[in-house]
Amino acid sequence: MEAVTALNLQKSYDGKTNALEELTFRVPQGGVCGFLGPNGAGKTTTVKLLTGLLRPTSGECSVMGLSPQKEPEKVHALCGVMTETARMYQNMTGQQNLVFFGQTAGLTQSQAKERAEVLLRELDLWGARDKKAGRYSTGMLQRLSLARALVHEPQVLFLDEPTSGLDPESAQAVNEMISALARKSGVTVFLCTHQLRYAQDLCTTYGLLYQGKLISSGDFQTICEAAGCHIKAGIRTEPEQILHGFVKNGDFWEIDIASEEEMAAILRDLVTQDIPVYEARLLRPTLEDVYFSCIRDQEVAQ
Ligand SMILES: Nc1ncnc2c1ncn2[C@@H]1O[C@H](COP(=O)(O)OP(=O)(O)OP(=O)(O)O)[C@@H](O)[C@H]1O
Ligand SMILES: [Mg+2]
Repeated sequence: MEAVTALNLQKSYDGKTNALEELTFRVPQGGVCGFLGPNGAGKTTTVKLLTGLLRPTSGECSVMGLSPQKEPEKVHALCGVMTETARMYQNMTGQQNLVFFGQTAGLTQSQAKERAEVLLRELDLWGARDKKAGRYSTGMLQRLSLARALVHEPQVLFLDEPTSGLDPESAQAVNEMISALARKSGVTVFLCTHQLRYAQDLCTTYGLLYQGKLISSGDFQTICEAAGCHIKAGIRTEPEQILHGFVKNGDFWEIDIASEEEMAAILRDLVTQDIPVYEARLLRPTLEDVYFSCIRDQEVAQ
């Protein structure tokens, strides 16, 4: 069974324009699926549909085989959701909030207390556990909201920009936690983010949205090939030397190659031609390269 599926999922808020258009994809169980795209692309809308907070205009979706629209309670019991705006009871302390939400998710009071303590410690909020949530800073609230999403040990975790507003140290801790959850506990994480560098380290699969449409999906290799991003060989030689067939980029001459094995042939070739190689490097495409290439293609097509 897939963790998440969407079939021709469509959402219009105003009945005229589509915030999401015929979205079809599958997210396998386990691992982190990075859901990427510019502002307004439809990421939050997708999360809201998958968690039953919104009804689709047409199409279907499922989470662990269940429809969020038909069986919202069952889906909520399996899912943890963290949205952009953390909602906590301002007059309750961090710990009271977690114990409360743990109990509403079906834990007994002692289970909820135990989970709350583990999460407060893990998210570095133990020192602030008795402070009212209304007095938390943005980053502390963000971490408390993540703790709330995790309190009932969900199988699928929807995280909408979990590290926005966090300082670098907290962001790193949250990313490590997400990665550990997916690796050790087999949790499926659906992660909406703009932080492409973190996403590349964390995610096992990707979905790239643009103006409500899925323009690329799959593992890194797949989206990379689809975007036509290649590995490049970069060669630095004498300043006056010209390398035919290469493109100059700063001090380096670059050429697309199909695999790293081609590097050896390029170096042999240059040596045979008596061209001095001062430095040679492989340039692998990054998620950022793939993202911008896909977005550029869409903009050109319009
Ligand atoms: N409640 C709403 N009412 C009307 N339109 C909405 C509503 N929420 C979102 N939209 C519209 O739907 C589209 C998709 O918005 P959505 O919030 O899903 O984008 P996003 O990918 O999450 O963007 P961001 O990166 O800025 O969070 C946008 O055009 C937005 O204006
Ligand atoms: Mg959003």
